[in-house]
Amino acid sequence: MRRIGVMTSGGDAPGMNAAVRAVVRTAVERGLEVLGIERGFHGLLHGHVRPMGSSSVSGIINRGGTILRTARSAEFRTPEGQGRATRQIAENGIDGLVIIGGDGSYRGGLAVHRACGVRVAGVPGTIDNDIPGTEYTIGFDTAVNTALEAIDKIRDTATSHDRVFVVEVMGRLNGAIALTVSIAGGAEAAIIPEVRHDMLRLCQRIQTWQDRGKLSCIIVVAEGAARGSDIAATITQVTGIETRLAVIGHIQRGGAPSARDREMATRFGAEAVCALLDGEEATMVGLMRGCTVRSPIESVECGSRPLDEGLLALVDVMAT
Ligand code: F6P
Repeated sequence: MRRIGVMTSGGDAPGMNAAVRAVVRTAVERGLEVLGIERGFHGLLHGHVRPMGSSSVSGIINRGGTILRTARSAEFRTPEGQGRATRQIAENGIDGLVIIGGDGSYRGGLAVHRACGVRVAGVPGTIDNDIPGTEYTIGFDTAVNTALEAIDKIRDTATSHDRVFVVEVMGRLNGAIALTVSIAGGAEAAIIPEVRHDMLRLCQRIQTWQDRGKLSCIIVVAEGAARGSDIAATITQVTGIETRLAVIGHIQRGGAPSARDREMATRFGAEAVCALLDGEEATMVGLMRGCTVRSPIESVECGSRPLDEGLLALVDVMAT
């Protein structure tokens, strides 16, 4: 192994820059050349690559976003696109590829590995924390803290006005962010894509809480479970209680990464390079019981990480 490529792919996540830095510095220290691939698979198939040395990643550990840019490439999903990507891998002499992204990006990595045999190592980078084989993905902690800061502020105004607030957070297919911020922010209920929600029961509970004199009520909704506006409208319609909506949206994807995200990104990035050097063909790094681990990247084909539904019950108990 002489030269590796590194890319960020899919939705950006705070801490991706710290991961790029760790990949570059570990690789350089181990005598490898590094090519930075811009805009994920889109950049790969168009040959948008540039050499990266240790100083090229100075001063980025604290920066949100990704200096390599990112993309969700429809072109790469076509057979022609994949053909172009594998040709670029050969033309640029790339022996190993570190992909920092979510499960969709891992599937892309697996496709190029199967097509041309290049070694791939996945680094879990998504605010969603939904990748199998790891208890943690880079960006989750920062995103949760961003949403939490907003919820704390919303609580102030909700309490002042005796209002119900619906707060919509990110998570198209999974409710990890919604559940974590619900527990940490003391939300009265969480609505997540993995579990069917019962609007009638929720409205009855809100009514009971109001009758008992509860001053505010926050319902957290993951964007993939329902539209926050629909939930708010139903609550108003059924209970007659004034309900407001706050959609936090992409604010959750930006900002300086937290200490945890910087640390995990650094550990994951370094481990990915070591995995390639150890001869792993198609691996993904992750965290299990506090330790960095490797597992076959094929695991992403078996679906996303199951949710701990006990956390939803915990939100319910805390709300009583
Ligand atoms: O995968 C990360 C994520 O932020 C999801 O939580 C969200 O559903 C999605 O990306 C939004 O994607 P986009 O930025 O392409 O709209």
